[in-house]
Amino acid sequence: MWGGRFAEGPSAIMREINASIPFDKALWREDIRASKAHVAMLGAQGIVSTQDAATITEGLDQVAAEYERDGVPEDWDLEDIHMTVEARLTELVGPVAGRLHTARSRNDQVATDFRLWVRTANARALAGLSALRSALVARAGEHAETIMPGFTHLQTAQPVTLGHHLMAYYEMLSRDAGRFLAAQDRLNECPLGSAALAGTGFPIDRNSTAKALGFREPTRNSLDAVSDRDFALDYLMAASQCSLHLSRLAEELILWASQPFGFASLPDSLSTGSSIMPQKRNPDAAELVRGHAGRIVGAATSLMITMKGLPLAYSKDMQDDKPPVFEAASLFDLSLAAMTGMIAETTFKVDRMRAAAQAGHATATDLADWLVREGDIPFREAHHITGEAVKLADTKGCSLEELALADLKAIDARIDERVYSALSIDASVASRASYGGTAPDQVKQRVAEAIARLNSEAEG
Ligand code: ARG
Repeated sequence: MWGGRFAEGPSAIMREINASIPFDKALWREDIRASKAHVAMLGAQGIVSTQDAATITEGLDQVAAEYERDGVPEDWDLEDIHMTVEARLTELVGPVAGRLHTARSRNDQVATDFRLWVRTANARALAGLSALRSALVARAGEHAETIMPGFTHLQTAQPVTLGHHLMAYYEMLSRDAGRFLAAQDRLNECPLGSAALAGTGFPIDRNSTAKALGFREPTRNSLDAVSDRDFALDYLMAASQCSLHLSRLAEELILWASQPFGFASLPDSLSTGSSIMPQKRNPDAAELVRGHAGRIVGAATSLMITMKGLPLAYSKDMQDDKPPVFEAASLFDLSLAAMTGMIAETTFKVDRMRAAAQAGHATATDLADWLVREGDIPFREAHHITGEAVKLADTKGCSLEELALADLKAIDARIDERVYSALSIDASVASRASYGGTAPDQVKQRVAEAIARLNSEAEG
């Protein structure tokens, strides 16, 4: 289509390096939708005749029907999806097809198509996140009173409730949803009509195309509109942050499903067997969620580096914006879906969790706190006394709770029989009832609030 200026056709290498059709054919629905909005506006403004606009619209519908049925043909000579659609339109309706490109350029066209695509990806992310957040909240409600060890440095620290642990991920993923929503809001401006870079001399109506394509308003600067890809980076960065969260959850499920932990059994439907070791149930889905996070962050890095230092306005480097976004989006959608299935269907081994919480002197802090509260002992001293008790329990091979009162009194005479009420893991979690703490009552309140929030989000 730009052949007029060139004596010879592009070399084979040029054709190949130039062609984006192998990947940007994924934009065909957006491309046809934007073209229909554009030609309707051209007709309404009298820039093309109503008759020609109708012919072009019918032709575009026919192209769409063909692509829906047969897929998009990949002809490198046609370079990209925009030229591919226009070429087929020309075959179908003749030279009138050439009027479609009045008052636009592939630069505003691709910016518009890609925004439409990313908008849908943002919406899918939000829907996937809602499903996963709902699954977390449901399991947290079920396990508001289930006790497990809480860890720091992956060492038993204090008992927590499983519901509290799951709700930690609900909080992370709710912030992630906020990032996708913010991305959606910033993306809500339509570049169409910015033309190549400077706008157009034709009397177009950008408000009407913006509205027809479901955008709040047209973009305000044509140079910016055709050359920025921050809407795609917003998506990739939100997906990256979220995939970091998903990878931490995946890692915990992998640990919990391991035999030494034995805290969880992942659903058969999301595990695999080993071809050589019959006893194995591998947490492949969780491992792949953990792995995909690397590729998603890589996609964000790739596009950031593509965009770095590009002068205004469009440069062909920007054609490389799409593969990382397409790849990251399919990995991310799958990760959310896999994680939702795992959370919904994992069997938590509550007895194992409880035994592990009991085993690691997880209530040592409770003993120290009791000494501070009941014995009016400074915390540092209480910490030291507790350390002696832990040492003794280790020597005797028992838990703190199992130490005889005489033994405890020998360590510090201020200890009396009331201490036992502080040493049980149930008392320990129940006592951590500060706002946002692990106590079952706190968890139940957070779960109720989360359910209300998810319901109100669903109502829009
Ligand atoms: N295939 C191109 C892309 O994805 C479309 C824009 C081409 N514009 C141009 N001036 N060559 O970026």
